[in-house]
Amino acid sequence: MLAGVKVLVIGNGAREHALCRSLSLDPDVSALHCAPGNAGIAEVAELHPVDALDGAAVARLAGELAADLVVVGPEAPLVAGVADAVRAAGIPCFGPSGEAAQLEGSKAFAKDVMAGAGVPTARSYVCTTPAEVDEALDAFGAPYVVKDDGLAAGKGVVVTDDLEAARAHANACDRVVIEEFLDGPEVSLFAITDGVTVVPLKPAQDFKRAHDGDAGPNTGGMGAYSPLPWADPKLVDEVMETVLQPTVDELRRRGTPFSGLLYAGLAITSRGVRVIEFNARFGDPETQVVLARLKTPLAGVLLASANGTLADLPPLRWSDEAAVTVVVASYNYPGTPRTGDPITGLDEVAAQDAPYAYVLHAGTKRDGDAVVSAGGRVLSVTATGSDLTQARERAYTAVARIGLDGSQHRTDIAAKAAAEA
Ligand code: AMP
Ligand code: GLY
Repeated sequence: MLAGVKVLVIGNGAREHALCRSLSLDPDVSALHCAPGNAGIAEVAELHPVDALDGAAVARLAGELAADLVVVGPEAPLVAGVADAVRAAGIPCFGPSGEAAQLEGSKAFAKDVMAGAGVPTARSYVCTTPAEVDEALDAFGAPYVVKDDGLAAGKGVVVTDDLEAARAHANACDRVVIEEFLDGPEVSLFAITDGVTVVPLKPAQDFKRAHDGDAGPNTGGMGAYSPLPWADPKLVDEVMETVLQPTVDELRRRGTPFSGLLYAGLAITSRGVRVIEFNARFGDPETQVVLARLKTPLAGVLLASANGTLADLPPLRWSDEAAVTVVVASYNYPGTPRTGDPITGLDEVAAQDAPYAYVLHAGTKRDGDAVVSAGGRVLSVTATGSDLTQARERAYTAVARIGLDGSQHRTDIAAKAAAEA
Protein backbone atom coordinates (compact mmCIF):
# COMPACT_ATOMS: atom_id res chain seq x y z
CA MET A 1 0.00 0.00 0.00
CA LEU A 2 1.11 3.51 -0.77
CA ALA A 3 0.26 6.37 1.47
CA GLY A 4 1.04 10.03 1.54
CA VAL A 5 3.01 10.23 -1.70
CA LYS A 6 4.43 13.68 -2.44
CA VAL A 7 4.77 14.25 -6.17
CA LEU A 8 6.59 16.91 -8.20
CA VAL A 9 5.64 17.17 -11.89
CA ILE A 10 7.98 18.97 -14.31
CA GLY A 11 6.53 20.79 -17.33
CA ASN A 12 3.90 23.31 -18.30
CA GLY A 13 1.69 21.77 -20.98
CA ALA A 14 -1.76 20.24 -21.17
CA ARG A 15 -0.07 16.86 -20.76
CA GLU A 16 1.27 18.00 -17.39
CA HIS A 17 -2.15 19.38 -16.50
CA ALA A 18 -3.67 15.98 -17.34
CA LEU A 19 -1.02 14.22 -15.23
CA CYS A 20 -1.61 16.64 -12.34
CA ARG A 21 -5.38 16.26 -12.62
CA SER A 22 -5.11 12.47 -12.38
CA LEU A 23 -2.61 12.69 -9.52
CA SER A 24 -4.86 15.17 -7.69
CA LEU A 25 -7.66 12.59 -7.86
CA ASP A 26 -5.40 9.83 -6.51
CA PRO A 27 -6.12 9.20 -2.79
CA ASP A 28 -2.50 8.12 -2.25
CA VAL A 29 -1.14 11.53 -3.24
CA SER A 30 -0.77 13.81 -0.21
CA ALA A 31 0.98 16.76 -1.88
CA LEU A 32 1.22 17.82 -5.50
CA HIS A 33 3.76 20.28 -6.87
CA CYS A 34 4.57 21.41 -10.39
CA ALA A 35 7.39 23.40 -11.96
CA PRO A 36 6.92 25.64 -13.76
CA GLY A 37 3.24 24.79 -14.47
CA ASN A 38 0.58 27.09 -15.89
CA ALA A 39 -2.61 28.87 -14.81
CA GLY A 40 -4.72 25.71 -14.92
CA ILE A 41 -2.24 23.48 -13.10
CA ALA A 42 -2.12 26.11 -10.33
CA GLU A 43 -5.66 25.05 -9.40
CA VAL A 44 -4.57 21.51 -8.49
CA ALA A 45 -0.86 21.82 -7.64
CA GLU A 46 1.49 24.25 -5.95
CA LEU A 47 3.66 25.93 -8.60
CA HIS A 48 7.39 26.61 -8.35
CA PRO A 49 9.24 28.92 -10.74
CA VAL A 50 12.05 26.50 -11.55
CA ASP A 51 13.57 26.06 -15.01
CA ALA A 52 12.50 22.60 -16.22
CA LEU A 53 15.77 22.19 -18.14
CA ASP A 54 17.98 22.74 -15.08
CA GLY A 55 18.55 19.29 -13.59
CA ALA A 56 20.38 20.59 -10.51
CA ALA A 57 17.58 23.05 -9.74
CA VAL A 58 14.87 20.40 -10.23
CA ALA A 59 16.72 17.95 -7.97
CA ARG A 60 17.20 20.68 -5.34
CA LEU A 61 13.50 21.57 -5.43
CA ALA A 62 12.52 17.89 -5.16
CA GLY A 63 14.78 17.57 -2.11
CA GLU A 64 13.35 20.68 -0.47
CA LEU A 65 9.82 19.38 -1.01
CA ALA A 66 10.81 15.91 0.26
CA ALA A 67 9.21 14.56 -2.93
CA ASP A 68 8.73 10.79 -3.12
CA LEU A 69 8.38 10.91 -6.89
CA VAL A 70 9.37 13.33 -9.66
CA VAL A 71 7.56 13.02 -12.99
CA VAL A 72 9.35 14.66 -15.92
CA GLY A 73 6.77 15.45 -18.62
CA PRO A 74 8.42 16.96 -21.72
CA GLU A 75 11.21 15.65 -23.94
CA ALA A 76 13.61 18.59 -23.66
CA PRO A 77 14.38 18.13 -19.93
CA LEU A 78 14.60 14.36 -20.40
CA VAL A 79 17.12 14.72 -23.22
CA ALA A 80 18.97 17.28 -21.05
CA GLY A 81 19.36 14.63 -18.31
CA VAL A 82 16.98 16.04 -15.71
CA ALA A 83 15.85 12.53 -14.69
CA ASP A 84 19.50 11.56 -14.17
CA ALA A 85 20.03 14.54 -11.85
CA VAL A 86 16.94 13.66 -9.80
CA ARG A 87 17.93 10.00 -9.51
CA ALA A 88 21.50 10.97 -8.58
CA ALA A 89 19.97 12.85 -5.64
CA GLY A 90 18.36 9.60 -4.51
CA ILE A 91 14.80 10.56 -5.46
CA PRO A 92 12.63 8.19 -7.53
CA CYS A 93 11.95 9.65 -10.97
CA PHE A 94 9.51 8.76 -13.71
CA GLY A 95 11.28 9.31 -17.01
CA PRO A 96 14.26 7.93 -18.92
CA SER A 97 17.92 8.91 -18.59
CA GLY A 98 19.30 11.46 -21.05
CA GLU A 99 21.00 8.64 -22.94
CA ALA A 100 17.85 6.54 -23.25
CA ALA A 101 15.82 9.63 -24.21
CA GLN A 102 17.94 9.77 -27.38
CA LEU A 103 15.30 7.36 -28.63
CA GLU A 104 13.30 10.55 -29.16
CA GLY A 105 16.18 13.06 -29.28
CA SER A 106 17.82 11.51 -32.32
CA LYS A 107 15.86 9.93 -35.16
CA ALA A 108 19.09 8.26 -36.33
CA PHE A 109 19.62 6.64 -32.89
CA ALA A 110 15.99 5.44 -32.91
CA LYS A 111 16.48 3.86 -36.34
CA ASP A 112 19.62 2.11 -35.10
CA VAL A 113 17.82 0.70 -32.04
CA MET A 114 14.94 -0.48 -34.22
CA ALA A 115 17.36 -2.20 -36.60
CA GLY A 116 19.03 -3.93 -33.63
CA ALA A 117 15.69 -4.98 -32.16
CA GLY A 118 14.16 -6.09 -35.46
CA VAL A 119 11.31 -3.58 -35.07
CA PRO A 120 9.37 -2.85 -38.28
CA THR A 121 9.79 0.75 -39.46
CA ALA A 122 10.17 2.76 -42.66
CA ARG A 123 13.40 2.15 -44.58
CA SER A 124 15.56 5.23 -44.25
CA TYR A 125 18.86 7.00 -44.95
CA VAL A 126 20.69 9.43 -42.71
CA CYS A 127 22.05 12.25 -44.89
CA THR A 128 24.47 15.10 -44.20
CA THR A 129 25.26 16.43 -47.71
CA PRO A 130 23.06 17.69 -50.59
CA ALA A 131 24.35 14.85 -52.78
CA GLU A 132 23.24 12.24 -50.22
CA VAL A 133 19.89 14.02 -49.91
CA ASP A 134 19.29 13.90 -53.66
CA GLU A 135 20.23 10.25 -53.82
CA ALA A 136 17.86 9.31 -50.97
CA LEU A 137 14.95 11.35 -52.37
CA ASP A 138 15.46 9.71 -55.73
CA ALA A 139 15.65 6.22 -54.20
CA PHE A 140 12.28 6.51 -52.45
CA GLY A 141 10.36 8.80 -54.83
CA ALA A 142 7.27 10.84 -53.87
CA PRO A 143 5.67 11.40 -51.40
CA TYR A 144 8.94 12.51 -49.80
CA VAL A 145 9.43 12.20 -46.02
CA VAL A 146 12.22 14.44 -44.67
CA LYS A 147 12.95 14.62 -40.93
CA ASP A 148 15.30 16.88 -39.03
CA ASP A 149 17.44 14.55 -36.90
CA GLY A 150 17.09 16.56 -33.67
CA LEU A 151 14.20 17.54 -31.40
CA ALA A 152 11.70 19.77 -33.19
CA ALA A 153 8.44 19.59 -31.21
CA GLY A 154 6.71 17.65 -33.98
CA LYS A 155 7.48 20.39 -36.48
CA GLY A 156 10.75 19.09 -37.98
CA VAL A 157 9.06 16.71 -40.41
CA VAL A 158 8.03 17.57 -43.95
CA VAL A 159 5.90 15.14 -45.97
CA THR A 160 5.43 16.45 -49.52
CA ASP A 161 5.07 15.53 -53.19
CA ASP A 162 7.12 18.59 -54.11
CA LEU A 163 10.76 17.62 -54.72
CA GLU A 164 12.02 21.19 -54.35
CA ALA A 165 10.26 21.61 -50.97
CA ALA A 166 11.70 18.27 -49.78
CA ARG A 167 15.20 19.34 -50.90
CA ALA A 168 14.88 22.76 -49.29
CA HIS A 169 13.84 21.30 -45.90
CA ALA A 170 16.61 18.68 -46.05
CA ASN A 171 19.31 21.21 -46.89
CA ALA A 172 18.16 23.51 -44.07
CA CYS A 173 18.95 20.78 -41.50
CA ASP A 174 22.43 19.66 -40.42
CA ARG A 175 21.52 16.01 -40.47
CA VAL A 176 18.33 14.57 -41.89
CA VAL A 177 16.61 11.24 -42.02
CA ILE A 178 14.93 10.62 -45.37
CA GLU A 179 12.59 7.69 -45.44
CA GLU A 180 10.00 5.65 -47.21
CA PHE A 181 6.43 6.98 -47.08
CA LEU A 182 4.10 4.92 -44.88
CA ASP A 183 0.44 4.77 -45.88
CA GLY A 184 -2.44 3.99 -43.54
CA PRO A 185 -3.90 5.44 -40.35
CA GLU A 186 -1.71 6.45 -37.43
CA VAL A 187 -2.03 5.16 -33.88
CA SER A 188 -0.24 6.32 -30.73
CA LEU A 189 0.38 3.54 -28.25
CA PHE A 190 2.02 4.33 -24.91
CA ALA A 191 3.65 1.85 -22.58
CA ILE A 192 4.96 2.28 -19.08
CA THR A 193 8.20 0.45 -18.43
CA ASP A 194 10.83 0.08 -15.73
CA GLY A 195 13.43 -1.08 -18.23
CA VAL A 196 12.38 -4.74 -18.03
CA THR A 197 8.61 -5.07 -17.64
CA VAL A 198 6.38 -3.29 -20.17
CA VAL A 199 2.75 -2.34 -19.45
CA PRO A 200 0.82 -0.99 -22.45
CA LEU A 201 -1.82 1.72 -22.05
CA LYS A 202 -4.82 2.11 -24.39
CA PRO A 203 -4.26 3.23 -27.98
CA ALA A 204 -5.26 6.74 -29.07
CA GLN A 205 -5.24 8.70 -32.30
CA ASP A 206 -3.75 12.15 -32.65
CA PHE A 207 -4.52 14.79 -35.32
CA LYS A 208 -1.16 16.22 -36.36
CA ARG A 209 -2.15 18.65 -39.11
CA ALA A 210 -3.32 22.15 -38.29
CA HIS A 211 -6.59 22.20 -40.24
CA ASP A 212 -9.72 20.13 -40.80
CA GLY A 213 -9.40 17.23 -43.22
CA ASP A 214 -5.71 16.82 -42.32
CA ALA A 215 -4.79 19.92 -44.30
CA GLY A 216 -2.11 22.46 -43.38
CA PRO A 217 1.24 22.10 -41.64
CA ASN A 218 2.25 19.55 -39.00
CA THR A 219 1.73 20.68 -35.40
CA GLY A 220 2.40 19.19 -31.98
CA GLY A 221 -1.16 17.75 -32.18
CA MET A 222 -4.57 19.39 -32.50
CA GLY A 223 -6.78 16.78 -30.84
CA ALA A 224 -7.07 13.12 -29.93
CA TYR A 225 -9.50 10.38 -29.05
CA SER A 226 -9.61 6.92 -27.50
CA PRO A 227 -10.69 4.14 -27.91
CA LEU A 228 -10.20 3.39 -31.63
CA PRO A 229 -13.33 1.45 -32.63
CA TRP A 230 -11.85 0.72 -36.06
CA ALA A 231 -8.63 -0.84 -34.81
CA ASP A 232 -7.95 -4.58 -34.69
CA PRO A 233 -8.56 -5.76 -31.11
CA LYS A 234 -5.25 -7.64 -31.32
CA LEU A 235 -3.30 -4.47 -32.13
CA VAL A 236 -1.95 -3.88 -28.62
CA ASP A 237 -0.76 -7.48 -28.23
CA GLU A 238 0.90 -7.35 -31.63
CA VAL A 239 2.68 -4.05 -30.91
CA MET A 240 3.79 -5.31 -27.50
CA GLU A 241 5.36 -8.35 -29.13
CA THR A 242 6.87 -6.77 -32.25
CA VAL A 243 7.71 -3.26 -31.04
CA LEU A 244 7.53 -2.35 -27.36
CA GLN A 245 9.12 -5.32 -25.59
CA PRO A 246 11.90 -5.79 -28.21
CA THR A 247 12.77 -2.07 -28.02
CA VAL A 248 12.95 -2.08 -24.21
CA ASP A 249 15.05 -5.28 -24.32
CA GLU A 250 17.39 -3.81 -26.95
CA LEU A 251 17.97 -0.61 -24.96
CA ARG A 252 18.74 -2.64 -21.84
CA ARG A 253 21.13 -4.86 -23.85
CA ARG A 254 22.98 -1.73 -25.06
CA GLY A 255 23.49 -0.54 -21.50
CA THR A 256 20.98 2.32 -21.82
CA PRO A 257 17.93 0.85 -20.06
CA PHE A 258 14.78 2.85 -20.71
CA SER A 259 12.36 3.50 -17.85
CA GLY A 260 9.37 5.81 -18.01
CA LEU A 261 6.92 6.20 -20.86
CA LEU A 262 7.71 4.67 -24.22
CA TYR A 263 5.52 6.19 -26.92
CA ALA A 264 5.21 4.31 -30.19
CA GLY A 265 3.87 6.39 -33.08
CA LEU A 266 2.62 3.74 -35.49
CA ALA A 267 1.31 3.56 -39.05
CA ILE A 268 -1.13 0.73 -39.76
CA THR A 269 -0.01 0.17 -43.35
CA SER A 270 -1.26 -2.23 -45.97
CA ARG A 271 1.86 -4.31 -45.20
CA GLY A 272 1.40 -4.32 -41.44
CA VAL A 273 2.25 -2.16 -38.44
CA ARG A 274 5.30 0.11 -38.80
CA VAL A 275 6.89 2.49 -36.29
CA ILE A 276 6.87 6.11 -37.50
CA GLU A 277 8.68 7.41 -34.45
CA PHE A 278 9.36 6.81 -30.79
CA ASN A 279 8.96 9.41 -28.10
CA ALA A 280 10.39 9.15 -24.61
CA ARG A 281 7.44 10.71 -22.76
CA PHE A 282 3.66 10.92 -22.67
CA GLY A 283 2.20 12.31 -25.92
CA ASP A 284 0.32 15.55 -25.98
CA PRO A 285 -2.68 15.61 -26.59
CA GLU A 286 -3.12 11.81 -26.49
CA THR A 287 -2.35 11.69 -22.75
CA GLN A 288 -5.44 13.79 -22.08
CA VAL A 289 -7.72 11.06 -23.49
CA VAL A 290 -5.75 8.04 -22.28
CA LEU A 291 -5.66 9.27 -18.67
CA ALA A 292 -9.35 10.21 -18.87
CA ARG A 293 -10.00 6.47 -19.28
CA LEU A 294 -7.50 5.09 -16.73
CA LYS A 295 -9.23 4.01 -13.51
CA THR A 296 -6.15 2.73 -11.65
CA PRO A 297 -4.77 5.54 -9.46
CA LEU A 298 -1.78 7.00 -11.30
CA ALA A 299 0.87 7.59 -8.64
CA GLY A 300 1.40 3.89 -7.87
CA VAL A 301 1.86 3.11 -11.57
CA LEU A 302 4.45 5.84 -12.08
CA LEU A 303 6.23 4.91 -8.84
CA ALA A 304 6.41 1.25 -9.90
CA SER A 305 8.19 2.37 -13.09
CA ALA A 306 10.56 4.61 -11.12
CA ASN A 307 11.30 1.87 -8.55
CA GLY A 308 11.60 -1.05 -10.96
CA THR A 309 8.62 -2.95 -9.52
CA LEU A 310 6.20 -2.93 -12.47
CA ALA A 311 6.14 -6.76 -12.52
CA ASP A 312 4.31 -6.65 -9.17
CA LEU A 313 1.65 -4.19 -10.31
CA PRO A 314 -1.89 -5.60 -10.72
CA PRO A 315 -3.39 -5.21 -14.22
CA LEU A 316 -4.47 -1.66 -15.03
CA ARG A 317 -8.20 -0.95 -14.86
CA TRP A 318 -9.87 1.02 -17.66
CA SER A 319 -13.17 2.77 -18.21
CA ASP A 320 -15.22 1.65 -21.23
CA GLU A 321 -16.08 5.26 -21.87
CA ALA A 322 -14.75 7.20 -24.82
CA ALA A 323 -12.69 10.36 -24.49
CA VAL A 324 -12.07 13.21 -26.94
CA THR A 325 -9.83 16.23 -26.60
CA VAL A 326 -9.84 19.32 -28.83
CA VAL A 327 -6.88 21.70 -28.80
CA VAL A 328 -7.59 25.43 -28.90
CA ALA A 329 -4.53 27.12 -30.40
CA SER A 330 -3.40 30.72 -30.74
CA TYR A 331 -3.66 32.84 -33.83
CA ASN A 332 -0.90 31.82 -36.29
CA TYR A 333 0.06 28.50 -34.59
CA PRO A 334 2.16 26.48 -35.60
CA GLY A 335 3.94 29.62 -36.79
CA THR A 336 4.99 32.18 -34.17
CA PRO A 337 1.82 32.37 -32.08
CA ARG A 338 0.18 35.56 -30.88
CA THR A 339 0.09 35.57 -27.07
CA GLY A 340 -1.26 37.73 -24.25
CA ASP A 341 -4.92 37.52 -25.31
CA PRO A 342 -7.48 37.06 -22.53
CA ILE A 343 -9.31 33.72 -22.35
CA THR A 344 -12.98 33.73 -21.37
CA GLY A 345 -15.55 31.02 -20.68
CA LEU A 346 -13.43 28.86 -18.37
CA ASP A 347 -15.82 29.34 -15.43
CA GLU A 348 -18.82 28.56 -17.63
CA VAL A 349 -17.30 25.22 -18.66
CA ALA A 350 -16.55 24.41 -15.01
CA ALA A 351 -20.10 25.35 -14.00
CA GLN A 352 -22.03 23.76 -16.86
CA ASP A 353 -20.00 20.93 -18.39
CA ALA A 354 -18.14 19.34 -15.47
CA PRO A 355 -17.51 16.55 -14.73
CA TYR A 356 -17.98 15.27 -18.29
CA ALA A 357 -15.99 18.03 -19.93
CA TYR A 358 -13.13 20.03 -18.55
CA VAL A 359 -10.39 22.35 -19.74
CA LEU A 360 -6.75 21.38 -19.47
CA HIS A 361 -4.36 24.30 -19.84
CA ALA A 362 -1.25 24.42 -22.02
CA GLY A 363 0.08 27.90 -22.90
CA THR A 364 -1.75 29.99 -20.30
CA LYS A 365 -0.75 32.29 -17.48
CA ARG A 366 -2.45 34.49 -14.97
CA ASP A 367 -2.47 38.24 -15.55
CA GLY A 368 -4.18 39.78 -12.54
CA ASP A 369 -7.69 38.36 -12.49
CA ALA A 370 -7.52 37.23 -16.09
CA VAL A 371 -6.10 34.08 -17.66
CA VAL A 372 -4.23 34.96 -20.86
CA SER A 373 -2.70 32.94 -23.68
CA ALA A 374 1.03 32.33 -23.39
CA GLY A 375 1.87 29.81 -26.13
CA GLY A 376 0.87 28.11 -29.37
CA ARG A 377 -1.39 25.40 -28.03
CA VAL A 378 -3.42 27.16 -25.33
CA LEU A 379 -6.09 24.76 -24.07
CA SER A 380 -6.98 21.10 -24.47
CA VAL A 381 -10.71 20.76 -23.97
CA THR A 382 -11.39 17.18 -22.89
CA ALA A 383 -14.63 15.24 -22.51
CA THR A 384 -15.78 11.71 -21.81
CA GLY A 385 -18.99 10.01 -22.91
CA SER A 386 -20.59 6.64 -23.41
CA ASP A 387 -19.25 6.66 -26.97
CA LEU A 388 -17.19 8.89 -29.23
CA THR A 389 -20.26 10.74 -30.50
CA GLN A 390 -21.26 11.82 -27.01
CA ALA A 391 -17.69 12.64 -25.99
CA ARG A 392 -17.28 14.78 -29.14
CA GLU A 393 -20.55 16.62 -28.50
CA ARG A 394 -19.52 17.39 -24.95
CA ALA A 395 -16.03 18.52 -25.97
CA TYR A 396 -17.31 20.83 -28.71
CA THR A 397 -20.06 22.24 -26.47
CA ALA A 398 -17.33 23.24 -24.03
CA VAL A 399 -15.07 24.59 -26.81
CA ALA A 400 -17.94 26.83 -27.93
CA ARG A 401 -18.02 28.50 -24.51
CA ILE A 402 -14.33 29.49 -24.74
CA GLY A 403 -13.43 32.95 -25.98
CA LEU A 404 -9.90 33.66 -27.26
CA ASP A 405 -9.40 36.27 -29.93
CA GLY A 406 -8.06 34.82 -33.19
CA SER A 407 -7.92 31.28 -31.84
CA GLN A 408 -8.23 28.19 -34.01
CA HIS A 409 -9.30 24.61 -33.46
CA ARG A 410 -10.17 21.67 -35.65
CA THR A 411 -13.86 20.81 -35.94
CA ASP A 412 -13.34 17.22 -37.10
CA ILE A 413 -11.57 15.59 -34.14
CA ALA A 414 -12.81 11.97 -33.90
CA ALA A 415 -15.59 12.73 -36.42
CA LYS A 416 -14.76 9.91 -38.82
CA ALA A 417 -14.24 7.32 -36.06
CA ALA A 418 -17.51 8.36 -34.36
CA ALA A 419 -19.45 8.12 -37.63
CA GLU A 420 -18.08 4.68 -38.45
CA ALA A 421 -18.41 3.22 -34.94
P1 AMP B 1 7.30 12.36 -36.53
O1 AMP B 1 7.84 13.62 -35.92
O2 AMP B 1 8.36 11.40 -36.97
O3 AMP B 1 6.22 11.75 -35.73
O4 AMP B 1 6.49 12.81 -37.82
C1 AMP B 1 5.39 13.69 -37.74
C2 AMP B 1 4.30 13.25 -38.66
O5 AMP B 1 4.76 13.19 -40.01
C3 AMP B 1 3.78 11.87 -38.37
O6 AMP B 1 2.82 11.83 -37.38
C4 AMP B 1 3.19 11.49 -39.71
O7 AMP B 1 1.92 12.09 -39.89
C5 AMP B 1 4.14 12.10 -40.68
N1 AMP B 1 5.14 11.10 -41.05
C6 AMP B 1 6.32 10.88 -40.44
N2 AMP B 1 6.99 9.86 -41.02
C7 AMP B 1 6.22 9.41 -42.01
C8 AMP B 1 6.36 8.37 -43.00
N3 AMP B 1 7.46 7.62 -43.09
N4 AMP B 1 5.35 8.19 -43.87
C9 AMP B 1 4.24 8.97 -43.81
N5 AMP B 1 4.05 9.97 -42.93
C10 AMP B 1 5.03 10.20 -42.04
N1 GLY C 1 1.01 14.23 -30.08
C1 GLY C 1 2.31 14.02 -30.58
C2 GLY C 1 3.37 14.10 -29.60
O1 GLY C 1 3.15 14.20 -28.41
O2 GLY C 1 4.51 14.07 -30.03
